[in-house]
Amino acid sequence: MTDFPQRVFSGVQPTGNLHLGNYLGAITKFVDLQKTHECLFCVVDLHAITVPQDPVALKSSIREVTAAFIASGIDPVKHIVFNQSQVSVHAELAWVLNCVARIGWMNRMTQFKEKAGKDREAASIGLYAYPVLMAADILAYRATHVPVGEDQKQHLELARDIAQKFNTDFAASIAANGLGEVFFPQPEPLIQGPATRVMSLRDGSKKMSKSDPSDNSRINLADDADAIASKIRKAKTDPEPLPSELAGLAGRPEADNLVGIFAALKGETKQQVLATYGNANFSTFKGALVDLAVASLGPIGAEMQRLVADPAHIDAILCDGAERARAIAQPTLDHVKDILGFVRQTSL
Ligand code: TRP
Repeated sequence: MTDFPQRVFSGVQPTGNLHLGNYLGAITKFVDLQKTHECLFCVVDLHAITVPQDPVALKSSIREVTAAFIASGIDPVKHIVFNQSQVSVHAELAWVLNCVARIGWMNRMTQFKEKAGKDREAASIGLYAYPVLMAADILAYRATHVPVGEDQKQHLELARDIAQKFNTDFAASIAANGLGEVFFPQPEPLIQGPATRVMSLRDGSKKMSKSDPSDNSRINLADDADAIASKIRKAKTDPEPLPSELAGLAGRPEADNLVGIFAALKGETKQQVLATYGNANFSTFKGALVDLAVASLGPIGAEMQRLVADPAHIDAILCDGAERARAIAQPTLDHVKDILGFVRQTSL
């Protein structure tokens, strides 16, 4: 087996505001991974347009996700932060992989069925091919580790199947081109478990979501201290004080969610939180949660505001990231072209 250097790739869609769920579920994991791995973090704008986007909102959303990465502690100098559409390798490799992936495989993708809804005939072909583009994102860098949410697990399995089929279909050509035995690695998912699932502040049974019509249901990363405090104070609760044991959270989704958020922000387990706040009433606990959330999220929101106020600076970061991403991805695509038998311009 070929040994591939460890490399992390992940993508976040620039569609709507980032909220606490994205932060605790994904971005904090990215921040941790950059301590141990070489990382690429991509704002996947090509994925965003698989459903209609307002161009003005899309542009500010791309900059906002970039600002959120940086404000949260991702280092765009040591690692690579860029937007997908600036590196045309993604689209080109996706086309090649469209010809590797089978329709039978694509028809099993559950997220397409959910997103396309009842009128599947009216969905874009891009929405259908979305998981192949995601495979191209990962494979262009021959990434070995991919932090994603539970909902993306099936897409990652597809990426592995596509990599495997490419490796076996073209085994002879890969070898003949002096590229070893295995061209693409099998990317490993790093799945964020249900422990970091952040639920709506208005309904503990629903995931915190950017598409919830009530802004009070979520804490946006760009919210200032007043907004954070007011949303937590208004968060739905039940009449009982907090339990002192984990088992006491069963059947109390709102209490469970607030304890979970506290634990994640503090870097503690829920049991540890309950050891401190067991038997406390919600007004006491919410007061502590407001202090904690404002202390940890307030500076991120402020830094995001500062960054988005200077779009030229963000654009320069994205441009530099794209250049460095291209330097890794272009040789992969060149090899793929050789493997396929395309004639290409070699260095003049
Ligand atoms: N589909 C992912 C999501 O919605 C985003 C994404 C696009 C991604 N390309 C990727 C994630 C590559 C990991 C790796 O969450």
